[in-house]
Amino acid sequence: MKENNYDYSVVKGFAYSAVFWLIVGLVVGLWLAAEMFYPALNLTPWLAFGRLRVVHTNGLAFGFGFAGIFACSYYMLQRLTRTSLAFPGLARFHLYLFNVAIALAALSLFAGMNTSKEYAELEWPLDVVVVIMWVIFAVNVFATLIKRKEKQMYISLWYIIAMTVTVAVLYIVNNLEIPVNLFKSYSAYAGANDANVQWWYGHNAVGFVFTVPILAMFYYFYPKSTNLPIYSHRLSIISFWSLVFAYLWTGAHHLMLTPLPEWIQTVAIAFSIFLIAPSWGSVVNGYYTIRGRWDLMRTNYLTKFFIVGITFYGLQTVQGPTQGLRTLTAFFHYTDWVVGHVHMGTMGWVTMIISASLYYIIPKISGRELYSVRLANLHFWLIFIGQLVYTVTMWIAGIQQGAMWKATNPDGSLTYNFLETVTALYPYWYIRFVGGVIYFVGILVFTYNLIMTGRSGKESVPEPQPQTA
Ligand code: HEM
Ligand code: HEM
Repeated sequence: MKENNYDYSVVKGFAYSAVFWLIVGLVVGLWLAAEMFYPALNLTPWLAFGRLRVVHTNGLAFGFGFAGIFACSYYMLQRLTRTSLAFPGLARFHLYLFNVAIALAALSLFAGMNTSKEYAELEWPLDVVVVIMWVIFAVNVFATLIKRKEKQMYISLWYIIAMTVTVAVLYIVNNLEIPVNLFKSYSAYAGANDANVQWWYGHNAVGFVFTVPILAMFYYFYPKSTNLPIYSHRLSIISFWSLVFAYLWTGAHHLMLTPLPEWIQTVAIAFSIFLIAPSWGSVVNGYYTIRGRWDLMRTNYLTKFFIVGITFYGLQTVQGPTQGLRTLTAFFHYTDWVVGHVHMGTMGWVTMIISASLYYIIPKISGRELYSVRLANLHFWLIFIGQLVYTVTMWIAGIQQGAMWKATNPDGSLTYNFLETVTALYPYWYIRFVGGVIYFVGILVFTYNLIMTGRSGKESVPEPQPQTA
């Protein structure tokens, strides 16, 4: 790539890596979902639920999620600074290292190597690789920002900066560990401290992976696709600062009614409730952007993804603070309700926005029109329906599960033994599997559409380069 030209090869590489890891993660997710009602599928230790679950979560959160985030970040960085990447070679090295790291991560988790800290399961040699990779990314982000030709920093850049800094701090602090050999380490923290640090990390992984960079995409690709300016820049800035300030205090809502000091739990509840405001700041900004132009929901296929995606974000950020309240958490914690919460966020909000952003990017960088808008619409409806079937079923299952666990007879003994509470959920798990299959078919349609766009879509006007921008 010539100097002073946007470098899109790395954007393309990450975009297709995202789709690849999405499919791998979903196949594992479907297998997991089937194991819940057909345990014979635990064929070998390598396919045991406990191992597959972490392959699913890591493959999707870090494989799919981060690949999508890197693709969009490298694209937005260049467009918003009106300059090419500071180190395109380093970015390409990042792409290769990323895919090797995710492949090794999946392999090691399949093999049962696991620190047993959720979303931080990788053993220490891979943690070192992750840190090196993150430094490489951060160097490019900041060096590109320094040489930017556009003085004004659009809100998406602030979100990218917040992710870059915070993920580094979170990952390093939570993964401090003492290695005993190449494949095993123990956390540097113990007991309640370990749990506290772990969920400070865990919740902020949700915040700074599944929220902050996805909002960066929303604020950039949504106005671009609708050709309408975002309703309020001031509101976007206020939402940004209050969101990043509040997020870091909320981790303990995962540890309600535990030996963690009660005041820490109360602080987490207070900040979780506070989070509704900045979250809805972005939701309202999204809705007001198309005020008077709601016809775009019908006429512009990308608007649907963004509006429905931000709506699930809005619902997620009301459900989250509510389920973190002590009384409700006493009922819902450990139940399938939480699995419903997770998948509304991931299958609804995160996937909708990443899909729409990639639909925007791929035609632009390949200089071709999208292969098929009809297929994109089909993809939308399949993932929308699949996600709803999945999450609504899990919420109902969670309510029944919580109620059965807590039901008592007049003499105070438990009404149901544990096995009865498990078998009662089988019908819900069948339906969840069906929802997952519908969603998966939607993702296959998405993949086909993207591949065909790159290969045989009609030629269109390519993205302007900085000299002409
Ligand atoms: C205001 C924002 C949010 C708050 C206050 C919140 C609150 C919560 C709470 C209290 C739990 C724990 C439930 C339990 O275990 O009893 C939880 C779990 C979870 N939430 Fe949220 N949530 C929010 C937004 C989101 C978003 C946007 C996502 C995006 C996908 C998300 C993903 C998750 C995940 C993955 C878990 C499961 C963690 C685990 O493995 O236990 N949340 N959330
Ligand atoms: C076909 C679609 C999907 C299916 C069938 C599926 C299935 C599952 C199953 C069976 C579990 C384990 C639940 C349990 O332990 O009781 C799970 C957990 C999880 N999945 Fe998925 N999943 C799908 C899509 C996704 C996507 C797209 C993401 C992220 C981008 C994701 C992220 C997660 C996370 C973070 C958890 C851990 C939840 C927790 O700890 O509470 N899943 N999934």
